Amino acid sequence: MQIVDIDFCVPEDFKPLTAIESACFDIPWEERLIKRDLNEPGGSVYLKAAVKGIIAGYGVLGRAEDASHLMNLAVLPEYRRRGIALQLMAAFGEISLEWECWRMCLEVRSSNEAARNFYSSIGFVYSSRMKGYYADGEDALILTARIPFRL
Ligand SMILES: CC(C)(COP(=O)(O)OP(=O)(O)OC[C@H]1O[C@@H](n2cnc3c(N)ncnc32)[C@H](O)[C@@H]1OP(=O)(O)O)[C@@H](O)C(=O)NCCC(=O)NCCS
Repeated sequence: MQIVDIDFCVPEDFKPLTAIESACFDIPWEERLIKRDLNEPGGSVYLKAAVKGIIAGYGVLGRAEDASHLMNLAVLPEYRRRGIALQLMAAFGEISLEWECWRMCLEVRSSNEAARNFYSSIGFVYSSRMKGYYADGEDALILTARIPFRL
């Protein structure tokens, strides 16, 4: 387990966040959306996980009616399997409870076995499938979990 510093993202984190996006996803989030969110925070919470000052991972949480919504989660390949995503999820769990959300939901690509394994390891279960949800036509699986997580 690598103990990381978890903190809220600031506009200066834009470059490291876009670098994580490029390293982690074939279709990264649009840079202009990340820039807008960092400069005009409001709808969603961006958290970063830093190792000795280097941002190794980040995630984005939004709020639905009675549930929080994990919109993104990514850890640089060279920092994986050190418990960094777990620590981000622990922080997102705390924020969800502050919002009085006792449940979190998320979408994951049906082919993304690493992420599916990760989420099931902390208690996420299959809820439904959204056919052709992603731009390339892949299905999304909707997963949900009770909070606090099984960490
Ligand atoms: C999914 C992801 C965020 C996990 O990050 P991570 O920091 O490596 O995860 P952790 O080290 O906290 O993993 C905790 C546990 O989850 C499970 N897990 C994580 N990655 C796994 C993998 N590749 N295969 C199987 N189980 C995995 C394991 O049980 C792991 O515990 P262990 O290492 O003691 O066996 C990371 O693989 C990633 O960034 N993937 C690319 C982006 C992505 O797909 N994001 C999800 C979008 S929905």
